[in-house]
Amino acid sequence: MFIKTKIAGVEFNSYVLNASGPNDSTLEELEIIAKSGSAAIMMKSCTVEPRKGNPEPRYVRLPLGSIQSMGLPNKGYQEYIKFAPQLKKFNKPIIASVAGLCTDDYVKMVEAFQKSDVNLIEVNLSCPNLEAKPQVAYDFEQTEEVLSRISGLGKKPLGLKLPPYFEFAHFQQIAELIRKYKVSFISCINSVGNTLIIDPETETPVIKPKKGFGGLCGDYIKPIALASVRAFYELLKDKVSIMGVGGVKSGTDAFEFLLAGADAVQIATTFEKEGASCFERINKELEELLKRKGYASVQEAKGKLKYL
Ligand SMILES: Cc1cc2nc3c(=O)[nH]c(=O)nc-3n(C[C@H](O)[C@H](O)[C@H](O)COP(=O)(O)O)c2cc1C
Repeated sequence: MFIKTKIAGVEFNSYVLNASGPNDSTLEELEIIAKSGSAAIMMKSCTVEPRKGNPEPRYVRLPLGSIQSMGLPNKGYQEYIKFAPQLKKFNKPIIASVAGLCTDDYVKMVEAFQKSDVNLIEVNLSCPNLEAKPQVAYDFEQTEEVLSRISGLGKKPLGLKLPPYFEFAHFQQIAELIRKYKVSFISCINSVGNTLIIDPETETPVIKPKKGFGGLCGDYIKPIALASVRAFYELLKDKVSIMGVGGVKSGTDAFEFLLAGADAVQIATTFEKEGASCFERINKELEELLKRKGYASVQEAKGKLKYL
């Protein structure tokens, strides 16, 4: 098929999958994703212990996206390890997402998922919504510490969920670590952290946690996500697979990520707003667009951004 792709050597039947976050916490939700047009089954980021997450309201739909400060509500990693064998029958890659509260947590969870039925492990270094816990991926020393301890724990491909970076020096520093520790894939970007949406009627922020500071998602962040994908593609194109995340709601958006160099795109806000039918719709729109433009496969268009 036109829109088949590969992430870290693992075959994906299409170009579009769910991003870790909305509607992927329970087995029932994961089965809905499994039965949809999503190329893979991405799980909610888990922690060592189950978490209730932050106080509500913590997720609000906005005209051009959403703001969230969920605070990683999840069932704890052991539940997700138990879900994996039950999801195997759907014959799609299963991706675990791990979010440690300290380096030891990452080691414990990666070690356990390496022995599980998941196919890939996404290491979330970029949750912006934990009180008093800055995002790991903004601290290059801690990122290296985590990578040095999780990279030899097994054969399943490891990927990093990255936050937005805004400086070329930062893209380069992370790219160096990705090369050094042989990371197999990256997913960029997570929500843009610590943004503020104010409701002028109520004169309050729209979400409660962290005095209203939360992660911005959707259309608002697409240019930031595209820039990340492009920057990492230029630095790492033959070394890692790249998944673009941020503001994908149509086949045209997916095509822009493809031109920037993404091997696949992940979807959070559009999935939350539209439901699981969005994956098939966007895959179809992408396929039609590629045909109309005369491309025979996603590989043919990948990274082919033209310069002015
Ligand atoms: C409700 C919600 C929960 C999220 N939870 C997670 C999470 O647990 N782990 C993670 O890596 N990203 C999480 N994210 C971020 C998304 O995976 C994604 O990076 C971000 O929303 C940008 O994509 P979008 O524009 O398609 O929403 C969450 C996003 C939303 C909207």
